[in-house]
Amino acid sequence: MPKYSIAVDIGASTGRLILGYLEGGLLKLEGIHRFENKIVKKGDSFCWEADKLFQEIIIGLKKCTELGIKPDSIGIDTWAVDFVLLDENDQPLTEAVSYRDPRTDGMMEEVFNLFSKERLYLETGIQFQKFNTIYQLYSIKKNHPEILEKAKSFLMIPDYFNYLLTGKKANEYTNATSTQLVNAFTKNWDQQLLDVLGINREMFEEIKTPKTVLGNLSKELVSEIGFDLKVILPATHDTGSAVIAVPEEDESIYISSGTWSLIGVENYFPICITKALDYNFTNEGGIDYQYRFLKNIMGLWMIQEVKRNYNDEYSFAELVDLAREAKGFKAIVNVNNDRFLKPDNMIDEIMNYCIETGQSVPSTPGEVAKCIFESLSESYKEAVKEIEEIFEKKFKKINVIGGGCQNEMLNQLIADVTNKEVYAGPVEATAIGNIVTQLMALGEIENIKQARSIIKDSFEVRKYLPVQHIRS
Ligand SMILES: Nc1ncnc2c1ncn2[C@@H]1O[C@H](COP(=O)(O)OP(=O)(O)OP(=O)(O)O)[C@@H](O)[C@H]1O
Ligand SMILES: [Mg+2]
Repeated sequence: MPKYSIAVDIGASTGRLILGYLEGGLLKLEGIHRFENKIVKKGDSFCWEADKLFQEIIIGLKKCTELGIKPDSIGIDTWAVDFVLLDENDQPLTEAVSYRDPRTDGMMEEVFNLFSKERLYLETGIQFQKFNTIYQLYSIKKNHPEILEKAKSFLMIPDYFNYLLTGKKANEYTNATSTQLVNAFTKNWDQQLLDVLGINREMFEEIKTPKTVLGNLSKELVSEIGFDLKVILPATHDTGSAVIAVPEEDESIYISSGTWSLIGVENYFPICITKALDYNFTNEGGIDYQYRFLKNIMGLWMIQEVKRNYNDEYSFAELVDLAREAKGFKAIVNVNNDRFLKPDNMIDEIMNYCIETGQSVPSTPGEVAKCIFESLSESYKEAVKEIEEIFEKKFKKINVIGGGCQNEMLNQLIADVTNKEVYAGPVEATAIGNIVTQLMALGEIENIKQARSIIKDSFEVRKYLPVQHIRS
């Protein structure tokens, strides 16, 4: 009997429960449950609906019973940096406030007054983004110190769900590194940094690594769902799980393409040199203490917002088709400009940018989409140049993984602007990375090398050659 593992993968726009198991040496996937995720306004804050998301996990597990499946394990991954704080009675003290909430405005600069930017990078190796946990916590410290005083547990979103499933508290390593509070060398909470910021070290849990079996479901949940299973820690940061599933590891740069674009390479040590800091690269902790040297840049969030602004009249695939048809149109926006992080209306923001920069202004859905895809590819080209400069070498291939790798126009654009071979797939990289990690913990897969070879054999990866290459 194969072992059945459930990956719970919750992204900024959708969540899913996917069942995975080995059959004849190949990894098989079956979708169990899909649900929407979105940011909602609660009082003055932009928040995730954490309890609703947890209920969706339970609904998904109950569906397993209906489908006659009895999974052996479950692993949860989500986006990074966000968290909840629990009080002494383990009750939430805070909403799961989203990283897009403006509470972190100006906080980065205040933290730098206490702990220099250079030292922060040298110790944590983490990219500077205004929404990192460190700035979120500092904003609470500054504006609501009473909350921090009462806080007894700090749990990141997947840690919180794991706690609700098992009653056990732990901070998973890959996600913990995204806080910018973990020392890249000791791989533990940076005591000195926490002291300087005046943040209570006691509320942080023990850091546990991927492949740890956290425990079983609580008794109440076993009776509600109808079966028990092991709760295993995957790389609970979704990017960590996605990068585990990169099949083209040799001489290859990966782009994990979803709401964000994460572009980088896998590494065995953190690179905290000045150039990496200047280019704002991160060294996030990965499975087996590998590091993801990457840059978090704008992703398909822009097209997600545009789709929403058009009242979901067009599907993603239709927007790609329309963009292809808008042949004569050309305008490039700087996708990494902060104005595109959370504009009131993405279409207006893009149009205004084009007016301000004296370019043609996109007026049809196809022109807007074309502008986004071409602008994204230009930003990837820039990041590739930076990676090659830091590593002082050329990479041959780019492996695009995640939902965005279904965008054939974007894949071809990436190949063309970087003049590299692009490999697109697997689409469900995050869930796959999550599942193989559970299967490693269960002894079904030996190590990450074997996991990647199974992934390569099991899923379609499409190849795109640069146009220059085809012509020559
Ligand atoms: N059929 C399609 N054709 C082209 N692009 C698609 C298609 N389906 C999905 N996408 C792209 O995939 C993106 C979603 O990717 P993915 O499902 O990996 O993101 P997510 O998991 O919801 O978010 P996150 O990056 O926060 O994890 C969409 O924004 C869309 O641009
Ligand atoms: Mg995702």
